[in-house]
This record gives sequence, structure tokens and C-alpha cells, in this order.
Amino acid sequence: MELEDCLFPLLREVDIGIDARKVFAGADWALLIGAKPRGPGMERGDLLEMNGQIFVEQGQALNDVAKPTCKVIVVGNPCNTNALIALTHAPNLNPRNFHALTKLDENRAKCQLALKAGVFYETVSNVVIWGNHSTTQVPDFVNAKIDSAKATDIITDSEWLENDFTPAIQTRGGLLIKKWGRSSAASTAVSIAAAIKDLVNPTKDGDWFSTAVLSDGNPYGVPDGIVFSFPCRSKGDGSYEIVPGLEINDWLRTRIDKSAEELTSEKSCVGHLIGEYGAACPVLPDTLLPGEM
Ligand code: LMR
Repeated sequence: MELEDCLFPLLREVDIGIDARKVFAGADWALLIGAKPRGPGMERGDLLEMNGQIFVEQGQALNDVAKPTCKVIVVGNPCNTNALIALTHAPNLNPRNFHALTKLDENRAKCQLALKAGVFYETVSNVVIWGNHSTTQVPDFVNAKIDSAKATDIITDSEWLENDFTPAIQTRGGLLIKKWGRSSAASTAVSIAAAIKDLVNPTKDGDWFSTAVLSDGNPYGVPDGIVFSFPCRSKGDGSYEIVPGLEINDWLRTRIDKSAEELTSEKSCVGHLIGEYGAACPVLPDTLLPGEM
């Protein structure tokens, strides 16, 4: 009822159901939010086994009834590995159309950089979250910009960037849970809408956005076969490409590798849910180029 009362300009009808095969029928977009949320003291990895099965079923349902061009954003945690599980069970869909939400972390990072610099959020750009939506994620201040200048030229306090800003973004989801006893809700909803906007609007020249996608063939030396957050840009048609050529200094490299290791280990924990496709995961059809649908 409240959704109807919001008068969202694009909302035509709200249909509620529990059968994924009905809910996803003919879907152009699927937002996979339903999963057991993290409670106080839990890490996202603790949810791997509990939630993995949900994403097997949802992947299969998408495969059977969604449009083959359907784009999928996985929000339920651990979202990167859940997205990997879902895509392995949906061979009719393009694996590149599966995303795990890291826009929320990007927004958190933009907010903290803006507050520190004393500027409004909109002047902060080129912020990428690398890796897993977990405490190993890497909010990249090295390549970030404030008012088109390097963020590190505006915020020169490297001690703050490395030892306050970085852990604050990595642990912000956990802090919210500790404070309120439940996971983030409003900021997640806003960031899901923003993540869709990122894909259906052309990215501003020179900018990028964060989304976790299949790592196959990425230009940053991240192992293939995991769902990893990269700097991406879109032409606005729902597709994306990973932006190459960002500066990766030693500080970033060590942390990017650590997050990739965590995702590789999550993947090995759910090998039984990924099955044979898991082993074959790195191989994508030759006809698919980065950014192709
Ligand atoms: C968040 O980052 O707020 C959510 O992913 C909730 C969580 O489990 O941390």
C-alpha cells in the first residue's frame, strides 16, 4: 500500500508472491533481496551456507522464466558469492548481467570523503569499491576525485584515509547492525535504485561506478570466476564495461588481492552449490566481449 501511495512515476502495479517461477516470469530486471540477514556479531560469510540454497533456486527460476536479457542485482548477503551461485544456475542468461550490489559502499565512501573535505556529495566522483561486499572491500581513495582534483590532493591526511576512512567503510554495515540490531534498509533501497540508474544512463565522461560482476577477463589481474567489484561504465543500455587503466599502487594491490582471496575461498566453500559449472565458471563464450550484453 505504501509503495502505491508514494506515486512512483514508473510504478504500475504491485504483485506479491512467493513462487519465484511466477514472480520472475518475463522479468527484465530481478533484484534478489530476500535472504536471511546478518545479525549482531555475524560476518557475511556466516550466511554462506544458510543463504546459498536460496540463490540456487532463484537462479534456476530466472533461467526458466525470466527474459534471457534479464539483468540481476543480488543484494542478499554474502551478495558476491550469492550472485556467483545464481548465475551458475542460469545458463540461459548472460553471466555478465549478474551484479552484486556495491553501490551502497560507494555511496558510503562518497559521503565520508565529502564530509572530510567539507564539500557536497555531488562533487565527489570516481570512487570505486574493489572486491567483496565485506570487510575486505577496498574503498579506493587513490583514484577518487573531489571537484575534478585528486581526492588525495584535497584530503592530505593519509593517516585518516588509510586508518579511519578505509575501515569505516569496510565495517559500516556491521556498525549499523550493532546500533540498530538490524541491517541497513533505507540506504540499501536508495543504492539499489542508484545501481539501476548507473546501468540505464550513460556514465558521465571520465567517471565510473562500482558494481560487482564476473571477473573473467578483467584488466586488473583479479582471478577469473569470482564476482568482484570493479570500476565500470555504461552506455546506458543496461550493459557495462570494466574501466581499465586505474592506478593500482602497492597499498591498493595488497588489499585488492586480499579481497580476491576471500572471494576465492567463499567460492570453494560453496563448491557443492556451484557444481560442475563452478569448475567451468571462468570460461565464457568467445563471442562475448567486455560490456556486451
Ligand atoms: C550492509 O552493508 O549494510 C548490508 O550488506 C548489511 C550487512 O550485512 O552488512
